[in-house]
Parts: sequence; C-alpha cells; structure tokens
Amino acid sequence: MKFSIKSGNPEKQRSACVVVGVFEPRKLTEAAEAMDKIAKGYISGILRHGDMEGKAGSTLLLHNVPHALCERVLLVGLGKEREFHDKEYRDAVRAAFKALQETGAADATLYLAEIPLKKRDAAWKISQTAIVALESTYRSDRLKSKPGDAKPHLRKVTLGMTSPAESASGEAALQQGLAIAHGMNLAKDLGNLPPNICTPTYLAQQAVDLAKTYKLKATILEQKDMEKLGMGSLLSVARGSRQPAKLIALEYRGREKMEKPIVLVGKGVTFDTGGISLKPAAEMDEMKYDMCGAASVLGTLAAIAQMQLPINVVGIIPTTENMPDGNATKPGDVVTSMSGQTIEILNTDAEGRLILCDALTYAERYEPEAVIDIATLTGACVIALGHVASGLLSNDDDLAQELLRASEQAVDRAWHLPLWDEYQEQLKSNFADMANIGGRAAGTITAACFLSRFTKKYRWAHLDIAGTAWKSGKDKGATGRPVPLLTQFLISRAAQSVKKAKEAS
Ligand code: BES
Ligand code: MN
Ligand code: ZN
Repeated sequence: MKFSIKSGNPEKQRSACVVVGVFEPRKLTEAAEAMDKIAKGYISGILRHGDMEGKAGSTLLLHNVPHALCERVLLVGLGKEREFHDKEYRDAVRAAFKALQETGAADATLYLAEIPLKKRDAAWKISQTAIVALESTYRSDRLKSKPGDAKPHLRKVTLGMTSPAESASGEAALQQGLAIAHGMNLAKDLGNLPPNICTPTYLAQQAVDLAKTYKLKATILEQKDMEKLGMGSLLSVARGSRQPAKLIALEYRGREKMEKPIVLVGKGVTFDTGGISLKPAAEMDEMKYDMCGAASVLGTLAAIAQMQLPINVVGIIPTTENMPDGNATKPGDVVTSMSGQTIEILNTDAEGRLILCDALTYAERYEPEAVIDIATLTGACVIALGHVASGLLSNDDDLAQELLRASEQAVDRAWHLPLWDEYQEQLKSNFADMANIGGRAAGTITAACFLSRFTKKYRWAHLDIAGTAWKSGKDKGATGRPVPLLTQFLISRAAQSVKKAKEAS
C-alpha cells in the first residue's frame, strides 16, 4: 500500500473513495460538511432518514453521490464528539480500512487527520493513521498452501489535508508512521513463524539480512565464542537443545560523532518448553512467541534504519531454545555467569533471565548511554497488567519517565513497577550468589531484581512484554509491540541530541 499526503478540499478529489467522519448523533465533520454541500444536502438527508447515527466503529458506503467527483463516499462513525480521544481516533481509522478493503476501490482519500483531537497535533494523527492502516491490513498467510481471502484492491491511500501548512510538516510524520508500521510487521512476521522454522540460526540469518539491507554491522557469536567469554548462564539454557544457541549483535550508526549508543537487548527463546521444569501441555504452542523481545529489537532497528534516524543504537539478541533432554540443566544445578556471579537454577523454566544476564554483561563493551531489555519474561506480568500494558522497571527514574512519555505518545502502554531493595531478598540462595527464582510473590519484580544485579554499570530499563507481545484465542498472533514505544523513544532521543548539538555549535 502506497501512502501520500495531498492538500486540497474533499469535494475536489477524483478519488475512488473519499472518507469523511460523522460524530454521534448525526453531526458532520468539516470535510463531511463540504461533501454534503456540493451534494446539495444528500448526505445529511441520508442521516436524517436514520441510516447512520455516527456511532463509533460504524461505517456507511455511498455510491454516486450527486455532483461529487469521487466514485464513492465512505462515512465513518466517530462516536460522541466530547468522547473523541486517541482510542476513538484509532478505532475510526481501523473501521475505515476494514470497510475500504471490502469495496472494489483501488485508492482512497481520507479526511480524518484534521478532525480536532485533544492534545494531539496533525502529525500524530497522520503517523497513527499509517500505523493503524497497515495494522488492519496485516496478514500472516505465508504458510497456507492456498491464499486466503482474495487480494485486496486498495493500493493507494492519500491523506487529504485542507491546510497546506499542515501537509508540509505531515510528510515527516507520515514517514515515521510508515517506518514504525514496517518495524511492527517485521516483528509480527518473526513472532508468528513456527518454532521449527524460526530457530536461533534463523534469527541470526535474519539479522545478517537486515544488516545487508540497511548497512548495519552484524556480529554473530557461536557457542564456542560464548564459552570463551564465560557465558555459563546463557549456555546452561541451551544444553537441552539440538539447535545451537547464538548471540546476535547489530550496530546501527546514525551519528557520525562518537556518541554513546542506546543498547536494546531482546530475549530470543525461540521455543520455551520450560526445560526439565516442563510446562503443562495446554497452549504450549504459544511459547513460540518467547522470542518476541528479540523480534521487537530487529523491528525497531529496521524502523530507525529506514528513517535514517541520527542516533547510535546497538541491538543484542541472546537466542536459544529451552528444551528437556538428558543433557539439559537440572533444578539444583549451579552455573557461573559472564559477570562471575554464580546462580542456583531452581527452576529451568525461569530461563529468560539466564540468557539475558549474560547479554546484559556483554552490553558493557559498548559503553552504553542506556540499556533497555525487552522480554516475554513472566506469566506474573500477565496476571498483574493483563494484555494492556507492558511492565516497566528501571534503575533510573529519569529513564523510566522518558520511556513512559514515549509509550504515551506511541499509544503503546507501559506501567512502572517498583524495584525496591526489599524484593532482592527473595532471590537468596544457600549455595550460590543468587537463585534464579524468587517464589510466587511479585514474580515480575523479582525477575527484574535478578536482572538488576547485572546492570549496575549503566542506566537500565526492563520491559516485560509477556502480556502485550501477542494475542491468544481466535485472533492469535503477534502484536508487533513494543516496536512503537521503542521507536518513539529513539525518535525523541535523536531529536533532543540533535537540538543539543545545534545549541553547542
Ligand atoms: N516465557 C515464560 C514467561 C511467560 C509465561 C510469558 C506465560 C507469557 C506467558 C518464562 O520463561 C517463564 O516460564 N517464566 C516463569 C518463571 C517462573 C518459573 C519463576 C513463569 O512466569 O511462570
Ligand atoms: Mn520459561
Ligand atoms: Zn521463557
């Protein structure tokens, strides 16, 4: 789908479909008003007859609107004007694209981004339109022997702006939205792939391909390399698997100057059986999504590289399967991490932290400005925050606040949980420096406490995406989260550092 911005009035568009909004009850937006005027009251007449109230999510497709230059007009219900917020805007765009895909229209011109929205400018609405549009047209049918639904007709989307001033600043916003959507699609594709295809080796190959496309530097550490570095914790998870573990590092340089990088570390367990502490059978297939943190790192790197964002970013992905086997790690085993700290593995299903801790130590070599790890780490996070918000924990309050602002801007929710010292006690081991589990209480926090013992040398934040990275049930599939949050965080960072550099010179 191709997107563009065009200034001009809705009634002047020779489009296959012009899309305009209607508030409840039966209140035309400015663009709808303009269409109604040229059609001599045809649209308001239809509303008066009771064919559309303007309820949120409703749509009405009109053909042959009198005197209109376009072939169709799609009315999109926006709900009550007073209640029109972020979610309602996104719902309206989603409804519009669902309806558009059911028509034969090959192109459409949308007049939704100029509808006033509290605390949001046109740029936000434009970038969200692109994101939601591409989200609602995403399909994962590569592995079906016959293609599902017929190919959608819609190929060209124009975002109509009546004021030329806004259409200029809108172009950058559109490119940002498209980059984020592209990154999310990559993350979704990788997440949705079955675990017999998406292995650690496959992820490494994806990273190498990404590096070729965007001129990044890729380094793949093999098991023997990790042994030399003393990554005993990471390797203990891989012992039960026939698939070799890898550690992927991808470097993006958007800044000429030797600016310290932001390091993103993504959990890449391509299948989590639990190991010897075997998981129950129900829904175990969903543990193919245990590499969604890794997928979000690759998606975010693709997004910022596509935008050529002026910032330095490193992506690190520890990747392995977690399998039971005669050679697998057993509960009670003690291993030595790259940091030198020893770990008593009391539950082999708490494997995410075991691979992350060595990757976090490895991150030190990049002298990071800050490190953010992203992981489907704990079932407890799903219990605490459901599928709405990712868990956010950090050793630096400013970094946490910055991530929360990005999350708010990107409509990719996160919630700050405490990382107080009192929780550290739960990780006490009688036989090693720490245990890898902290009991049932506060499972998300004690998992982060474990990681915090490996992140003392830099500013660090942890995103637990166990509840937000994928959906279960009939809509089963990866969500592409938190690519929007991470990319927005980097966009804001880049803007700040460019501003600072300008002030200094
Ligand atoms: N990948 C899982 C976390 C998970 C579970 C994510 C369910 C989404 C849904 C992780 O490796 C795990 O198994 N965590 C254990 C930790 C426990 C043994 C301390 C958990 O949450 O049960
Ligand atoms: Mn596990
Ligand atoms: Zn796991």
